[in-house]
Amino acid sequence: MNDMDRGPNQGPPLGSMPSGGDGQGPLLSVEDLHVWYELKRWGFVHAGFVRAVDNVSFELKAGEALACVGESGCGKSTLMKAILGLLRPTQGTIRFQGRDLHMLDKCGWRWFRTQIGYVQQDPFGALPTFMDVNRILSEPLVINGLSNESARAQRIARVMTEVKLTPVDEFLPKFPHMLSGGQQQRVVIARAMIMEPKLLVADEPVSMLDASVRVEVLKLLRALQESHNLAVIYITHDLSTVRYFSDHIFVMYAGQIVEYARMDDLLAHPQHPYTLALLNASADPDASNALVMRDVPPGEPPSLVSPPSGCRFHPRCPHFMAGLCEVRVPPPFETEPEHRTACWLYDPEAQHRSATSQAAGDGAAAGMSGM
Ligand SMILES: Nc1ncnc2c1ncn2[C@@H]1O[C@H](COP(=O)(O)OP(=O)(O)O)[C@@H](O)[C@H]1O
Ligand code: SF4
Ligand SMILES: [Mg+2]
Repeated sequence: MNDMDRGPNQGPPLGSMPSGGDGQGPLLSVEDLHVWYELKRWGFVHAGFVRAVDNVSFELKAGEALACVGESGCGKSTLMKAILGLLRPTQGTIRFQGRDLHMLDKCGWRWFRTQIGYVQQDPFGALPTFMDVNRILSEPLVINGLSNESARAQRIARVMTEVKLTPVDEFLPKFPHMLSGGQQQRVVIARAMIMEPKLLVADEPVSMLDASVRVEVLKLLRALQESHNLAVIYITHDLSTVRYFSDHIFVMYAGQIVEYARMDDLLAHPQHPYTLALLNASADPDASNALVMRDVPPGEPPSLVSPPSGCRFHPRCPHFMAGLCEVRVPPPFETEPEHRTACWLYDPEAQHRSATSQAAGDGAAAGMSGM
């Protein structure tokens, strides 16, 4: 793994914040994670790697809502699949409640799967077409040993009521094709919640739904997060939807996290040039502005097989500094409490140097004017 070009003053992980002195460790801790896909020509000749996730670190506390935003293809789903244990990291560790996922035995994996729920982008594709809602929701309970039928029925009715699939008796015998997209996604959410997990991963949960039901589904996820003290990772390419998840947010670009902050702080004071470009490009929820032309980030997202050197955003960046940005990887600079930005514009040493040289220039100018 070539990290030779990393900056020397590599700070703490972009998304790691103090645990608040409560003595409890994070629920989820992702450290130095790399997930690369191997490319093969003719099915067997090694042809390089797609560096879909490349040196990502962050932490998530119990009950915290975290949004992960970035353009399509930046590695969001790959990151989440690694967290769900569906992809094996190329390098780095993922810990859940302090337990390294890849040290878990069979029993450990079974435990982990009850602790984490997954809401996919395409609800219809996520549901087995040959099962009715009752069977879809019963199966995880049966697999995990809840053999008492009336206890199962009670749990299913409770969760269905929470996700607003009511009247329950009316929905239980329905098959996925008999439901609307919004109702299918509610079934997917109910299935994700049925084992009472501690973490819900929602990967673009509303992007395939009609605009009219998107807000309702996002509000539902937020309500579940609050009522169950559930940690949620909400993944989206659409910054206009993240305000429904108000704790923290990180922005990904080309397999890496470039900015991490509190949600309100990031929306009010975005720092990384890529975040600014994303915000400019994000749709205005006000329908009267629907036809307003927006600035979109110039250029194309880079190839993840041979990503740009130094800062990966440098070929598209309006603030590119030659000799620095394309040479050295910017480390995460802590610009404000709970706000980190991986961009050389926020290097405190450079700012100090430029302030000192400015002061020296002013002094020299004053001396010259006094002559
Ligand atoms: N199975 C795979 N094999 C090779 N490349 C893949 C595979 N899955 C995804 N990729 C590539 O990895 C990169 C990140 O993909 P993905 O994680 O799906 O991004 P996102 O969810 O942000 O759209 C993309 O360049 C994508 O083409
Ligand atoms: S490090 Fe340089 S190229 Fe990268 S975002 Fe900052 S200013 Fe732009
Ligand atoms: Mg995706």
